[in-house]
Amino acid sequence: MRSIGVVTSGGDAPGMNAAIRAITRIAYSKNFQVIGFEKGWEGLLTNTFRPLTPRSVGGIIQLGGTILLTSRCPAFKKKEGIKKAAETLALNNVDGLIVIGGNGSFEAALKLSKKTDTLIVGVPATIDNDVFGTDETIGFDTAVNTAVAEIDKIRDTAISHERIFIVEVMGRTRGFLASTVGLTVGAETILVPEVKYDKEEILKTLKENSDKGKKSGIIVAAEGIGDTSKLAKEIEKNTGEEVRLSILGYAQRGGNPTARSRLLASLFADKAVELLSEGQGSRIVGLQNGRITTIELEKSCKTEKPLDLSLLKLARVLAT
Ligand code: F6P
Repeated sequence: MRSIGVVTSGGDAPGMNAAIRAITRIAYSKNFQVIGFEKGWEGLLTNTFRPLTPRSVGGIIQLGGTILLTSRCPAFKKKEGIKKAAETLALNNVDGLIVIGGNGSFEAALKLSKKTDTLIVGVPATIDNDVFGTDETIGFDTAVNTAVAEIDKIRDTAISHERIFIVEVMGRTRGFLASTVGLTVGAETILVPEVKYDKEEILKTLKENSDKGKKSGIIVAAEGIGDTSKLAKEIEKNTGEEVRLSILGYAQRGGNPTARSRLLASLFADKAVELLSEGQGSRIVGLQNGRITTIELEKSCKTEKPLDLSLLKLARVLAT
């Protein structure tokens, strides 16, 4: 094994740079060369990459985003794209490729793994935390803390104005971010894409809270539950309370990675380089029950990670 390629793909996540740094330095410690493909899979289509050295990854552990840039690369979904990427890997004698990203990136990596001799290993990095095979992804802890800090501020003005706030967090299809954030900000209600919400149930909870003397409230909603603006208007109409919507947006994707996100990045990187150095590929690394483990890339891609709905129940009790 002489050369390892690195690519960051899909939505960026705080901690990706910590992973790039760790992969590079660990690989060098094992006498590998490292190259970083730029702009996600696009870099493999255009053969655009840069050498990564222990010095070139200095001073990035604390930076959000990715120095390699990223993209969502529709061209890569086509057969020609996969073929071109396999040619790029062969052209550059890349023995092992580490893909830092989420489910979409791993699905593309799985297709590529069937068309190349290059060993491919996935490092889960997405604020959605929706990758099967790991309890936690790089960036999730940072996004949770970013959202919690913002919602604590919103709670101040909600109390001052005796208002209900719907706070929309990221999570187009899954509610891992919404459920953890909702519980840790003391949200009165948490709405996730996995559970179709019942407007009457929401109104009933708000009425119960009001009868208990709660003059304000926070509803944390994943963006994937539907039209939160419409829901805010419906709640206001039905309760006569002032309701406001606050969409946290892309701030959840950036910022300095927390120590936890940096730790995960470093441990996942170590495992990924170890797999490649042992000639193992088509796997992702992950954290399971406190231990760094690996599972097959195909199994991760084909299995939906279950959301622990007991978190939602606990959150409701805690918010009474
Ligand atoms: O996958 C991470 C994520 O931030 C989702 O939570 C969000 O819905 C999506 O990316 C946004 O995608 P884009 O950055 O392409 O707008």
